[in-house]
Amino acid sequence: MKKIIAFWFLISCVSCKSNNHETPSTGENSDSLHQLLQKYAPGLGEIMGGIQTHHAKLWYAGINDNWKLAQYESDELKERFVQATQVETERTEVKMVPMMYPANDSINDAIGRKNLDQFKSGFKLLTASCNSCHRANNFEFNIITIPTAPPVSNQDFKVH
Ligand code: HEC
Repeated sequence: MKKIIAFWFLISCVSCKSNNHETPSTGENSDSLHQLLQKYAPGLGEIMGGIQTHHAKLWYAGINDNWKLAQYESDELKERFVQATQVETERTEVKMVPMMYPANDSINDAIGRKNLDQFKSGFKLLTASCNSCHRANNFEFNIITIPTAPPVSNQDFKVH
């Protein structure tokens, strides 16, 4: 009798575990996770909109010798590129994302040294890399430039 009770207990534990929806281990659950990602993940164009803003903010932080903000914007920029490779796995263009990393490294180095000339040349390389990828993917009509006006009016890029 004890054995039967123990067996029944074991079975009920196993079935309660398989009813636990918080652990997506079955093929069915991972399919629906994939569908959710497809539905809610930002599109590549949206991610690029964020990248465009960080690109412009990075420039204004750098030319104002605001190195802490510049480092923040540079990290955000890189995060968006990494995000593009993670969520836009069906877009072949994202395979070219690593071409951005040398420019990103060079900017980070300039920020570490607080070297404005090096920052400006790193930024030119960064902008040229944006355009290289656009050209390589038939988006040559989408031309990125060094900004000529701050991207927003409600943020101060100077150091205080
Ligand atoms: C790996 C390739 C690649 C790199 C690198 C890249 N882009 Fe893009 N970009 C694209 C593609 C592809 C699109 C078109 C996306 C779409 O709309 O589906 C795009 C679109 C855009 C758009 C249009 C989005 C809009 O709302 O107008 C902007 C702006 C943009 N990119 C900015 C940048 C900037 C700034 C950089 C560099 C810091 C950059 N991109 C680097 C591939 C790239």
